[in-house]
Amino acid sequence: MRMKDKVALISGAASGMGAATARLFGREGAAMVFVADLLDKEGAEVVDSINKAGGKARYLHLDVTDEAGWQAAMAEIEKSAGGLDVLVNNAGISGSAEQDLYDTAAWNRLMNINATGVFLGMKHGIALMKKRAAQGRKGGSVINLSSVSGIVGQAYIHVGYNASKGAVRMITKAGAAQHGRDNIRVNSVHPGLMPPMRTSGRTADPATRAKTLKGVPLGRAGEVDEVAYAILFLASDESSYVTGAELVVDGGWTAV
Ligand SMILES: NC(=O)c1ccc[n+]([C@@H]2O[C@H](COP(=O)([O-])OP(=O)(O)OC[C@H]3O[C@@H](n4cnc5c(N)ncnc54)[C@H](O)[C@@H]3O)[C@@H](O)[C@H]2O)c1
Repeated sequence: MRMKDKVALISGAASGMGAATARLFGREGAAMVFVADLLDKEGAEVVDSINKAGGKARYLHLDVTDEAGWQAAMAEIEKSAGGLDVLVNNAGISGSAEQDLYDTAAWNRLMNINATGVFLGMKHGIALMKKRAAQGRKGGSVINLSSVSGIVGQAYIHVGYNASKGAVRMITKAGAAQHGRDNIRVNSVHPGLMPPMRTSGRTADPATRAKTLKGVPLGRAGEVDEVAYAILFLASDESSYVTGAELVVDGGWTAV
């Protein structure tokens, strides 16, 4: 039980990699998995599936761009679960449906959800983790979902996606530098070609995917559980000396 006694919040957990991670945390014995998203119906279904399988989960409606929403979520977690051990900042939108790769409204949207959303999560999540540390409890683990797009550029994705994921990569390292003394670890995960996001455009197109796969040494797309297991490692005590790291889960895409 790699998540025994741990309370976790996963943003954007109603679908995709967030949902897979929530289910995995549930199977690994988390004390409570808070499934947070804007999609209430889908989020409630994820919670039901975890609870039916013997895990412990609750749904929280949370827009990651809403600071008051983060404050309310943290207050609820403190009240009902006593504190927070693991925060997975996973919510995000794609930049591959934009026609104009320099559209200003899309830039603002991407930066707001993908980068500011992570900043707000760290601000309020780490504050709650520190309260617990002050009470003599262990620190915490923050896992931020970046992307290969936070490491290399792509010609077919809005620049705001790359910029926002690059910001996530560096917010992570700043967090590792700032919170290590409280035993709060902060790491980023960088998935490569995965099942398309709800908001994907060109990256959902079979022809674009086939072209991309030519440059991926493992020669196939990743599966959501393959990212969830990387997140689980960083969430668990197995990674107790890992902080500020970028865990690339891309089948070798950025290695060549
Ligand atoms: N799918 C890929 O190919 C891929 C590759 C690399 C990185 N990523 C990143 O991984 C993360 C998860 O992506 P996914 O593939 O599971 O996508 P997804 O679209 O299946 O899931 C994203 C979730 O985030 C939620 N969300 C969006 N805006 C939100 C907001 N303002 N507040 C709260 N929730 C919000 C959505 O409702 C959705 O449930 C994202 O950060 C994404 O950028 C995805």
